[in-house]
Amino acid sequence: MKLLKDKVMAEGIVLGNQVLKVDSFLNHQMDPVLMKEMGAEFARRFAGEGITKVLTIESSGIAPAIMTALELNVPMIFARKHQSLTLKDNIFVEKVYSFTKRETNEITVSKKFLRADDRVLIVDDFLANGEAAFGLARIVEKAGAAIAGIGIVIEKSFQPGARLLTEAGYRVESLVRIASLEDGAVAFVEDAPIHSCD
Ligand code: G4P
Repeated sequence: MKLLKDKVMAEGIVLGNQVLKVDSFLNHQMDPVLMKEMGAEFARRFAGEGITKVLTIESSGIAPAIMTALELNVPMIFARKHQSLTLKDNIFVEKVYSFTKRETNEITVSKKFLRADDRVLIVDDFLANGEAAFGLARIVEKAGAAIAGIGIVIEKSFQPGARLLTEAGYRVESLVRIASLEDGAVAFVEDAPIHSCD
């Protein structure tokens, strides 16, 4: 998605060789025009999948997910990372380990909002090791609902998440795919040099 690539190039800050800081438009300040375009793009890619719910995880997944849900005209649910005072019983709970933050979160979704006849699109801001996406997928499966696909804003293709999710049979659609963050530079998958055989 060109608009997003341009934004990453203009405003993304590479930290070490692994982390892309995008807090000027995705993770802290948010760009509503970009969010709207991303929602339209996910809706276009998953059109015809019969999606009935969009599922994400707080907090940065919420903006792209709500825009996608708006386009698809379905509800959006976000998994909570912190125990809610009013959400105590009748919840699906999964453990999600974050390699980036080195912490485990218990993520929860109320059983009220996921039903066995739902077709769920999972949306998240970053895909690194795939822990968050797998945790959300386990919740959907516990509900007996179907997973229509996984929409990711920024895939770090040099980490294993995308491959693991694809191998597990999920359709993964990423708006941009990053091949490398080596030497402080962002290289997109499409731009990676093609090595000839000779
Ligand atoms: P995984 O879910 O794919 O396994 O990823 P990981 O555990 O490594 O990531 C945990 C958190 O770090 C997630 O945010 C994820 O979005 C974020 N993250 C991973 N790689 C990057 C990166 O290169 N840049 C940025 N900016 N974030 C990254 P979270 O804990 O859910 O935080 P938030 O949604 O509350 O902001």
